[in-house]
This record gives sequence, structure tokens and C-alpha cells, in this order.
Amino acid sequence: MRCRADLLLLVIAVSRAAQTLFQSPDEGWQVYTSAQAPDGKCLCTAVIPVQGSCSRDLRSRQLRQLMEKVQNISQSMEVLDLRTYRDLQYVRNTESLMKGLDSRLKVATESQKNLNAKSFQELKDKMTELVPLIPVLDQYKSDTRTIVQLKEEVRNLSGSLLQIQEEMGAYDYEELQQRVLVLEARLHACMQKLGCGKLTGVSNPITIRASGSRFGSWMTDTMAPSSDSRVWYMDGYYKGRRVLEYRTLNDFIMGQNFVQHLLPHPWAGTGHVVFNGSLYYNKYQSNIVVKYHFRSRSVVVQRSLNTAGYNNTFPYSWGGFSDIDFMVDENGLWAVYTTNQNAGNIVISRMDPITLEILRSWDTGYPKRSAGESFIICGTLYVTNSHLAGAKIYFAYYTNTSTYEYTDIPFHNQYSHISMLDYNPRERVLYTWNNGHQVIYNVTLFHVIKTSGEL
Ligand SMILES: *[C@@H]1O[C@H](CO)[C@@H](O)[C@H](O)[C@H]1NC(C)=O
Ligand SMILES: *[C@@H]1O[C@H](CO)[C@@H](O)[C@H](O)[C@H]1NC(C)=O
Ligand SMILES: *[C@@H]1O[C@H](CO)[C@@H](O)[C@H](O)[C@H]1NC(C)=O
Ligand SMILES: *[C@@H]1O[C@H](CO)[C@@H](O)[C@H](O)[C@H]1NC(C)=O
Ligand SMILES: *[C@@H]1O[C@H](CO)[C@@H](O)[C@H](O)[C@H]1NC(C)=O
Ligand SMILES: *[C@@H]1O[C@H](CO)[C@@H](O)[C@H](O)[C@H]1NC(C)=O
Repeated sequence: MRCRADLLLLVIAVSRAAQTLFQSPDEGWQVYTSAQAPDGKCLCTAVIPVQGSCSRDLRSRQLRQLMEKVQNISQSMEVLDLRTYRDLQYVRNTESLMKGLDSRLKVATESQKNLNAKSFQELKDKMTELVPLIPVLDQYKSDTRTIVQLKEEVRNLSGSLLQIQEEMGAYDYEELQQRVLVLEARLHACMQKLGCGKLTGVSNPITIRASGSRFGSWMTDTMAPSSDSRVWYMDGYYKGRRVLEYRTLNDFIMGQNFVQHLLPHPWAGTGHVVFNGSLYYNKYQSNIVVKYHFRSRSVVVQRSLNTAGYNNTFPYSWGGFSDIDFMVDENGLWAVYTTNQNAGNIVISRMDPITLEILRSWDTGYPKRSAGESFIICGTLYVTNSHLAGAKIYFAYYTNTSTYEYTDIPFHNQYSHISMLDYNPRERVLYTWNNGHQVIYNVTLFHVIKTSGEL
């Protein structure tokens, strides 16, 4: 018998051949990736929990049968009750008849002489009237026995029903909860392994558009479904308030079909990010971080980023009030900045995207002013050593292990002045603003897929 409890489908934008990631027949679940989908995406599919679902179905079936049986029994009991009631009425009605017959029989036994032919005939008639009572009484007696037996059976069944229900309840709550947790962890691992890895290369640049000033930023919403290719465009690095929203990437390329959002507070730098329908940016001349919700056209929350330098105190090498840099990776929202306490070295903070509170921070030890730009892929911060020609990805900080290493990953800085560099986990590309050009790069991420067994 085959049964599937659930089918979870997770789509990750990664181009890989079919590979089984995890297979554990003992535990009864499987996580595997399918072949590449037509749009180049890789499907990560989990089928769970085969074993558990089967035994659960079995229990459900047993329970259903028992309930049906109970229902059948209570139905027969109703029938019996009704019949017994009617029989009882009949018995009562014939009671007077029996009493009359009884007295006549007494008289007849006392004086045989008085028993003439007419009287004898009367007696016979009364007897005939009472004859149908015999099977009724028999039926009544057997029904009574049946009722007693049925009552016992129902009591027994109710007992086992309760027991099974208790078992099922315990099974559902603990066992399934456990399986869901395991599955969640496996899916997470699957996603991480598929979509994540160590940056080993950056492709040649593709220029999407040439527009705007030397400094600026542009992006898509990494949380939106891939059918939503709206582009947000913010030209300039200070005092700007005008955000353009293009309907599609193609409209952005053509410079058409856009709406304008006017922010209530001007921005500083180019470290803005659009995440889940909101813009996160640094308010000009402050270390206040602002979450602006596009649909409601309002600031949802703003908060001072603890002791973070601002107003060109700790910018990237190119200046431009780039003190506070927001970014989004597979894990969520991050802020990159520094403080006096950290002696100007880059600090990475995981941010709560709803409250803008800092969840956890890491001190990378890398001086922010010596960094051209930085971006995060899979929880690892990559730092370039310059914003000018000849720049390379020079430093990597792993938040998963709180360790760093120096790297040497070259990339082509085509227009020789990068003022924005962000990884987009949805598209797995780097978005850059290079001297009035909007440019993207593919990335190569190296990851080892571990399987339990061979390979
Ligand atoms: C209940 O009664 C129906 C109809 O009489 C019968 O088909 C079914 O098998 C019975 N179920 C059980 C569990 O006895
Ligand atoms: C009810 O359960 C008792 C004890 O398990 C058993 O002896 C008895 O035969 C059962 N009665 C019926 C009608 O199933
Ligand atoms: C930490 O992350 C990097 C890349 O993001 C990965 O290569 C490495 O295996 C991870 N280390 C651990 C211990 O998970
Ligand atoms: C995205 O926003 C929706 C509501 O607009 C919310 O329900 C959801 O939790 C958000 N997701 C994240 C990851 O913040
Ligand atoms: C920001 O820096 C400028 C000089 O670049 C200065 O005039 C201004 O007062 C500073 N503002 C704040 C809020 O520190
Ligand atoms: C990235 O790779 C995809 C698929 O291989 C390709 O279609 C696209 O043009 C590449 N983009 C860049 C910027 O190289």
C-alpha cells in the first residue's frame, strides 16, 4: 500500500541536475530534487511521512469501523426498544383476558358438572385469543437477553473507542509534531544546500540600462513571486525622496510605465533595500532606519540603529553617506554599518523586518572605510576592496561560524565606479549601480551536496 500524508513543494531558483538529497526509509520520509523545471528552476520535493501516514490511516479506518458498529448497535437497540414497548402493551392488554381465563379455569376445575358444552367452547375461544401471546412472550424474553448483551457490547465498544481516540490524540500531537519539526529542518537544509554555498565566481556584467547620476540604487523585491518583476529606482545618494516603481523589468529597461513614491523623509546613501513590499532605508543625517510600506504609502516603523555612525562618519570608500547599508539574503534582512565602539570595523546585524530591532550582531574586524561595497549571500558577507577599476572581492565573513577569510574573486568593474552592490537571493544575481549604469552579474556558488550513503 502506498500512502502520502503530505506533499510539500519548494521551488528554489537554482540550476542543478536531479539529485536525491536525503532518503531515509527507516524514518519514512524522503527529500529529493527533481530535474530542472522548464523555467530553469530546481524543484525540491519532500514526501512525508510515508510510514506514519500509513499507520495513521489504519487507525483512522479502525476507528471509523468501530463507530459504524456502534451506530449499527444503537440502531438495533432502538428497534428492539420499540418492539418491546409494543409487546409490553399487548401483554398488558391481554392481562385482564388472562385473569378472566384464570377464574374460569378455577371454576371449571372446582365443578366439572357446571362445565357444559357452551362454557367449554367459550374457554377454548379465550385460549385461542391468547395463543399469539406465546411467541410474543418468547420474543420478549429473547429480546431482553439481546438487549442485555447489546448493552454490554456497546459499553465494550465505547471503551475501545475512547482508548483509540486517546492513542490517536497522543499520536497526532507528539509524533506528528515531531515529524513536522524534522521535516522543517530537512527542508531548510535542503534549501540551504541547494540555493546556498560559498561564492567562487562572478560572471561578466550585463548592463540593463544606462540612466541617472553617478550614484544611486535599484532593486526588485526579493520576497515577491518571480512573476512580479517590479523595479524600484532611487537616483542619487542624499536628500532624495523620489522612488520610482516600474511595472516590470522590461518597463524599467524601456524607461516606461512607472509610478512615483514620495518618501516623507529624505534618504542617505544607496544602501536601501525593498523587502516584502516595504522599502528599508536610512533617514538623511541620522542613524534612524525607516520602513516605508509602498501599498499604504506610509512609514510603518522607524528606529534608531544603536550607536551606528552616520552622516559620512563611516561610509564605504566612495563616501556618499553610505554609513548604513541594508541587504537581504536567504535568511532575511541585514544591516551593515559600524560604530565608534567597533573602531570603524564593519558590523553585521540581523534585523527583525517588522520591528527593525537588532536580533544579533557580528564584528567582522574589517575597516569599513577600506571597503568598496559589501553584500551578503547565505549569511556570508563579501567585501570588495575598492569601488574603482581593479576591485575584487577581497574578504568574506561567515556569520554561521563567526570566522573570516581573505578571498581573491575578481569581477569586471566595467564603468569604474560602483556605488551600490547587492545580492538578490530570488534571482541569484548581483545588482549594481556603476557610474550611471544599472548592471547585473551572475554568481557561482559552490556547495557540496551530502547524501546519506554512496556518493
Ligand atoms: C452496519 O450495518 C450495515 C447495514 O446493515 C452493514 O453493511 C455494515 O457492515 C454494518 N457495520 C458493522 C461494522 O457491523
Ligand atoms: C466485553 O468485554 C469483556 C471483557 O473484555 C468480554 O469478556 C465480553 O465478552 C465482551 N462482551 C461483548 C459483548 O463483546
Ligand atoms: C558556513 O557558510 C559557508 C558559506 O555560506 C559554507 O560554505 C560553510 O560550509 C558553512 N559552515 C558551516 C559550519 O555550516
Ligand atoms: C510579508 O508580509 C506579509 C504581509 O504583508 C506577512 O504576512 C509576512 O509574514 C511577511 N513576510 C516576511 C518574511 O516578513
Ligand atoms: C552632517 O555633516 C555635515 C557636514 O558634512 C554637517 O554640516 C551637519 O551638521 C552634520 N549633521 C549632523 C546631524 O550631524
Ligand atoms: C545568468 O545565467 C543565466 C542562465 O545561465 C543567463 O540566462 C543570464 O543571461 C546570465 N546573466 C548574467 C548577468 O550573466
